[in-house]
Order: sequence, then C-alpha cells, then structure tokens
Amino acid sequence: MDKLEKALQKARQDRERALAEAAVASAATMPPLEAAPPPPPEPTRTATLPMSPTELERHRVVVRSGTGANIDLFRMLRTKVVQQMQSAGLRTLAITSPQYGDGKTTIAINLAMSLALDVKQTVLLVDMDMRKPSVHEFLGIEPEVGLNDHLLHDVPISKCLVKPNIERLVVLPISTSLADSSELLGTPRMAKLASELKTRYADRIVIYDMPPLLTQDDTLAFLPLVDGVLLVVRDGVSPINDVRACAESLAGRNFLGTILNDSRFPG
Ligand SMILES: Nc1ncnc2c1ncn2[C@@H]1O[C@H](COP(=O)(O)OP(=O)(O)O)[C@@H](O)[C@H]1O
Ligand SMILES: [Mg+2]
Repeated sequence: MDKLEKALQKARQDRERALAEAAVASAATMPPLEAAPPPPPEPTRTATLPMSPTELERHRVVVRSGTGANIDLFRMLRTKVVQQMQSAGLRTLAITSPQYGDGKTTIAINLAMSLALDVKQTVLLVDMDMRKPSVHEFLGIEPEVGLNDHLLHDVPISKCLVKPNIERLVVLPISTSLADSSELLGTPRMAKLASELKTRYADRIVIYDMPPLLTQDDTLAFLPLVDGVLLVVRDGVSPINDVRACAESLAGRNFLGTILNDSRFPG
C-alpha cells in the first residue's frame, strides 16, 4: 500500500469514527421522544342500506309512496312541527306515548321522511326503544351495529349510522333488542351523545323514537335532554287515565303537543 492510499484509508476511518461518535453523542443528548401524533381519522362514509318497499308498505310508511290522504295528514303534521320548532329554535324532538302499540314508530318514521322529502330538511332518526327496536324492521334494513353497540361496546357512532335510500335522511338504528335495558337512556354516556348529536350539525333535526312513557322509567329521565316532546295517543286504545298520567309527567316541561293517532274523526 503506498503512502497516498494509506492516507486515504486513515482519513476514511477518522471520518467514520467521528460520525459514529457524533451519533452516540446526539443519541445521548436527545430529549425524550413524544409519541407521534395519531394519524387523522379515516373519513368514514355512512353506510347505505336500501329499504324494502314491501316492509315499508306493510308497516304503513306511507310518506314514501307519494300520494294519498295519509300523506296529506303527515304534511299537516310536518308543517305544524316545523313552525313550532323554527319559531322556538328547537332542533331535537322526542316522540313518546303511554304504552307500546300506540304508533310512535309509525309516526316518527313518516314524520322524519316527510321532513326530509318535502321540506328538504336533513333529519337524523334515532331508535331509542332498546326493548322493542323497530325502526330497522319498518324500513326493512338489517344494520350490523347500532346505538346499543355504541353505548355498551364503544363502537364509534359514525360506524352505527345508516343512510336508507332517501336523500337527507340518516338513521341511528338499534341492532339487537335488550331485554334489560332499564337506565341505559339515563346514563351520562347517552346524555353526552344527545348533546353531540344536537351540536355536530347545526342544520339537522334529530327525531328520537322513544320507548313508552308509562312502562319505562328511563324514558322520562331522557326527555329533558331534548328540545321538544310529542305525545302520541291512540284513539280508542289509550285509556284516559294513561293519557292523564302522561300529561302530568310532561306538564311544565318541553311538551309540544299531542297527536291523536288512528283517529276515527276526520282532521
Ligand atoms: N294510524 C294507524 N293506522 C293503522 N295502523 C297503525 C296506525 N298507527 C300505527 N299502526 C300500526 O300499529 C302497530 C303499532 O304501531 P307502532 O308504530 O309500532 O307503535 P309503537 O311504536 O308506539 O309501539 C303497527 O303494526 C302499526 O303499523
Ligand atoms: Mg315503537
């Protein structure tokens, strides 16, 4: 090896040693590393589940079909509801009744669709009846997850939302009925969700299809979290004492009015 080659080799070795020392020195003086920020959440697209026309018809979801006397009734109801909500700046509405079978779900779905289709209003329809969830049945859809999975298993709400094939309508269904659901609606978690659903989209009306008022304690516990409450009473079915009990429970609260369902008396 000649002199020049030796000099070059030494220079290379010196440089490598210096680099290695610098690396050790900088590693030794490195401040504690903070964890890298989490990646931005994946934009979750709301899943679309097409509704079944047969189930809609079977469950008297009449608004979708376009014409008929029933649709006019829902138009009148929708107009009154919109007027009341707009004049008082209300954005969330609960629909309840004394007992099961009074027509809460029928009215909640038809009203939600009428608002979405006719008023071009964005609507979120939330199934709140954990014991007898039926919004998905009425629409003929089979959601994989729903509000129950959010409340009990931390499934993000964005994964639980479903778009039936109606513009401007989004549904938060329940995927499985829960026999022992008492107190779920009264939990802090549910209160947080109600507040989130109300504030996240300023232009959206939220309609809650509630359980009955007289068979479940947590219905009444949830009602203060919504802006307005509509009481459905079924003509010839709801006993007068039940109606009185509901009126007493709702008095002095955010009670907007009563709907006499299945009425034998016109208009
Ligand atoms: N106005 C109505 N005319 C005829 N059938 C109705 C009417 N309203 C509701 N129903 C029927 O009554 C049953 C109970 O209605 P539903 O909306 O499920 O009540 P709830 O949600 O109060 O338990 C359903 O089979 C529904 O199709
Ligand atoms: Mg119902």
